[in-house]
Amino acid sequence: MALLWGVFCIARICLAISSLDWYNKDSKNSKRGEDMEYSMIDSHAHYDDEQFEKDRDKLLTILPEVGIGLVVNVGASMESCKSTIALTKKYPHVYGALGVHPGSVEELNEDRFVWLSQAVRQEKIVAVGEIGLDYYYDEPDRQLQKDWFARQISLAADVGLPMIIHSREAAQDTYDIMRSLGCEDVGGVIHCFSYGVEMARKFLDMGFYLGLGGVVTFKNARTVKEVAAYAPMDRIVLETDCPYLSPVPYRGKRNSSLNLPYVAEAIAQIRDMDVEEVCRVTSENVRALYRLDS
Ligand code: NI
Repeated sequence: MALLWGVFCIARICLAISSLDWYNKDSKNSKRGEDMEYSMIDSHAHYDDEQFEKDRDKLLTILPEVGIGLVVNVGASMESCKSTIALTKKYPHVYGALGVHPGSVEELNEDRFVWLSQAVRQEKIVAVGEIGLDYYYDEPDRQLQKDWFARQISLAADVGLPMIIHSREAAQDTYDIMRSLGCEDVGGVIHCFSYGVEMARKFLDMGFYLGLGGVVTFKNARTVKEVAAYAPMDRIVLETDCPYLSPVPYRGKRNSSLNLPYVAEAIAQIRDMDVEEVCRVTSENVRALYRLDS
């Protein structure tokens, strides 16, 4: 049943894409998703990325028609924060998060932080992020990453918004900083969760959601699959992190929210659930995480 629905869903998206023929001609005869029963939410995307330069508008416009009802575009640099605001103004189904990624914290200074502190108060900005620590590369300096991570956590607490955490090869420091600053009172999501079950338990105990994306479809991603099986269903959110991290069978290609059904299908298989149930519950989770109904 789960597999059938997954195939149906993917087939439907393929049909929508091909019938839209968005690169060439008018789509007025295309079959739209008017009876799409289940809507998915992409909790983490980067449509400001230059890889979407050529088809951003057509892609974003079609998403609700193929069952991707809502997208949260996540800022990662000063420039992408500005682009994110513009996207939220242009598209009713696009919400935004503003923050500076650990890899870009060298851009931050007091003036820019003041701008960010004001910008997050705008309508349709639903989170502070993505913020965190990334020790995969030696740069930027780790102390600088920690300092701006802490400042942006405090900002989230001040404005009462959940936070989107990026943490790579920095599990313990991420956890320690979050604990020391009382992040359990603010809440949020550990996006693209890549640690094991033990760390998952610690972040879940703090009340955080876990973001799962294309990696869960990779054959060799044993750790992430274990987490997908372990985490309570009401604490998982789906994400693409597009244009990065395309799921199988598009691994290595540009990702978009159109590939979200592959992530849902992988989680349904791992947990032996119906894929429509995965879509329904994770959409509710995203709404709760970003407080979209309040
Ligand atoms: Ni991201």
